[in-house]
Amino acid sequence: MKFFIDTANLSQIKEANELGILDGVTTNPSLMAKEGIKGNDAVLNHYRAICEIVEGDISAEVIATDYEGILAEGKVLAALHHNIVVKVPMIKDGIKAIKWFTDNGIKTNCTLVFSAGQAILAAKAGATYLSPFIGRVDDSGWDGMLLIRQIANIFAVQGYKTQILAASIRNANHIIQCAEAGAQVITSPLEPILGLLKHPLTDIGLAKFLEDAKKM
Ligand code: G3P
Repeated sequence: MKFFIDTANLSQIKEANELGILDGVTTNPSLMAKEGIKGNDAVLNHYRAICEIVEGDISAEVIATDYEGILAEGKVLAALHHNIVVKVPMIKDGIKAIKWFTDNGIKTNCTLVFSAGQAILAAKAGATYLSPFIGRVDDSGWDGMLLIRQIANIFAVQGYKTQILAASIRNANHIIQCAEAGAQVITSPLEPILGLLKHPLTDIGLAKFLEDAKKM
């Protein structure tokens, strides 16, 4: 399973990259705004800066919601760097645009996926990745992990090539369950990734080893 970091914060991207386990980055307009990135040039420069830090797929999201607009924005984003993946919302014109990008060799990430039906459409259009939002499904009172398992089952049965990029990860357990369910990728903020390191028995065991090392 590949690990992407879900942030536009350059220092967190660097910290995750230095761990040596990072395979890519996902961003969205909310994450870019959170970092104070404002204006078209600043946005494009920020994507360039991320591409310089991480050697792996970097999702950059379009703002347009009409077919022509999505194509125009996506072409500009894809031209920035060979690792850019054009992130397109799960809407009718988005599906049409994903098909065009696929036919023209541009990688895509279909975002805002909340149902298996949407996942099937994204796979049919040839999306490189699709992003089901686990945490937001949980917030709505359903079960985000159930959605990941359902999509993974359908894709295995049908032989779809689109990779499940589990998003809206809120804790380390989400990451573990995604690995179990067969998601090809998770994208997570830094905290849940670092959460995988933690176990109280590791801390207790290490403290004892260090204490005993003084007696060696
Ligand atoms: O990148 C999309 C997704 O990961 C957003 O997560 O926490 O805002 O639901 P969240």
